[in-house]
Amino acid sequence: MQKKIDELKLKRNAAQSGGGEDKIKAQHDKGKLFARERIELLVDEGSFEEIDAFVKHRSKDFGLDKVHYPGDGVITGFAKINGKPIALFSQDFTVLGGSLSEANAEKICKIMRTAMKIGVPVIGLNDSGGARIQEGVVSLGGYADIFLLNTLASGVIPQISVILGPCAGGAVYSPAITDFVFMVKNTSYMFVTGPNVVKTVTHEDVSFEDLGGAETHASKSGVAHFVCENEVEALMEVRKLLDYLPQNFMDRPSEFAFDNTKSELIEKLNEIIPDNSNKPYDMREIINLLVDGGEFLEVHQHYAENILTGFAHIGGMSIGIVANQPAVLAGVLDINASVKGARFVRFCDAFNIPLLVLEDVPGFLPGTEQEWNGIIRHGAKLLYAFCEATVPKVTVITRKAYGGAYDVMNSKHIRGDFNFAWPSAEIAVMGPKGAVEIIFKREISSAENPEEKLNEKLSEYVEKFANPFIAAERGYIDDVIEPSETRVKLIQAFILLKNKADRNPKKKHGNIPL
Ligand code: HXC
Repeated sequence: MQKKIDELKLKRNAAQSGGGEDKIKAQHDKGKLFARERIELLVDEGSFEEIDAFVKHRSKDFGLDKVHYPGDGVITGFAKINGKPIALFSQDFTVLGGSLSEANAEKICKIMRTAMKIGVPVIGLNDSGGARIQEGVVSLGGYADIFLLNTLASGVIPQISVILGPCAGGAVYSPAITDFVFMVKNTSYMFVTGPNVVKTVTHEDVSFEDLGGAETHASKSGVAHFVCENEVEALMEVRKLLDYLPQNFMDRPSEFAFDNTKSELIEKLNEIIPDNSNKPYDMREIINLLVDGGEFLEVHQHYAENILTGFAHIGGMSIGIVANQPAVLAGVLDINASVKGARFVRFCDAFNIPLLVLEDVPGFLPGTEQEWNGIIRHGAKLLYAFCEATVPKVTVITRKAYGGAYDVMNSKHIRGDFNFAWPSAEIAVMGPKGAVEIIFKREISSAENPEEKLNEKLSEYVEKFANPFIAAERGYIDDVIEPSETRVKLIQAFILLKNKADRNPKKKHGNIPL
């Protein structure tokens, strides 16, 4: 027996060093970590249980019959993060460039299927030259198998992709279907066609980093939800993100110990909204004051910055926050902000994460650019997402709630559970100037002094509508609250809503305006 055990140990050891020391050194020289080093950093110490370490490819073409590495370029298994089980795969660039073979895809699919059955998140560490060219269509089939499982797992378990090297061609569509994409500056890139093909087809000269690097995808395309300085930071951020998530769609996020009996008035909140309602302020300041420890994990921080999305804890409970950002474009809703907000709302709803909406929105962005690119279609996504969400939903209107944007931002009418307003709230069909110029057009133009008339009508309108009380009289606002008491009110609201049960009508699936 001892001989057999020794043999097993030898085989196990052979799987530990991937493509060999030279290849690992080359990986380090590029500022990248070896696939196993990444796993060690990501998971709780000593918790990784590998499977399929002895799997080999079955390809015989182009000399591959003589090239075998145990595990075939991807490490798969189960581990714990923050004490909770997860499934993971880590593509090993030191083995044939981490390229995806038939056997390699089977390994990934196996852990995904198990993760769905046992209800645990899947984390993919991507670093691959794409489909294994020598295998041809078999490798393409492997990708399709993964795409199908990504889709079937969507909304069942959280799926997280960490891009730590190349991710090109059709390979990009697996991360794209997952819930969150992390990228690392300067060492990771994603594109459907690389700079050389771009040059041939469109004659554009563009670098890898500009075309598909982390900053490009974090700020321009919105493909990346998180951009990190280096791999260690990315892996630590993944651990942090998991703190806010449940294990699967039937689970709830973990609650952290918190003394709910302590009332906490935050006087500083009374001083944030400027007296002049056209002046900007930073909504992040409000969020940081409201949430536990001022810790707000922003998702899509650099994309569509006129809306903020992210996770926090309040009274120990995990929540998703969607907030207009008056400091950028006055917090207006445009195409990118709508899509960003909609995807986040749907994630939270799929995984039982209550939503907090902080609202200060002058409306949808006007203009041909927005109309021609489909603000109607895209704005409808955000509306649809809030309408269909059945998780606890609480809104606080800090200042403007104008026009369609009032309805969209989790109004009472679309099943907001608790809708609060600060005394600074202005709830109306449109801003005072636009409104007065329309409804008093004739009166103003025929007045002896049109400017004086305009100002008179403006004061009348502001007096009547630029407050939260008309909405409160109708019950569209449940309470007008002092900013300083907002944290207390929110904690009470989310505790009350813990047992909320709401359902949408039975159907195959809805038809969100994609
Ligand atoms: C087989 C591959 C490979 C691949 C890299 N290698 N990509 N082997 N299939 N797709 C191998 C190389 O031959 C090399 O082997 C080793 O991995 C490291 O690659 P290098 O080129 O030396 O590394 P580097 O200079 O860092 O360049 C990395 C790279 C480049 C940019 C990723 O390798 C590259 O362009 N690869 C091809 C990318 C590609 O076009 N893939 C197909 C995309 S389409 P040795 O033995 O020399 O160390 C696709 C379809 C998906 O993926 C379909 C879904 C529908």
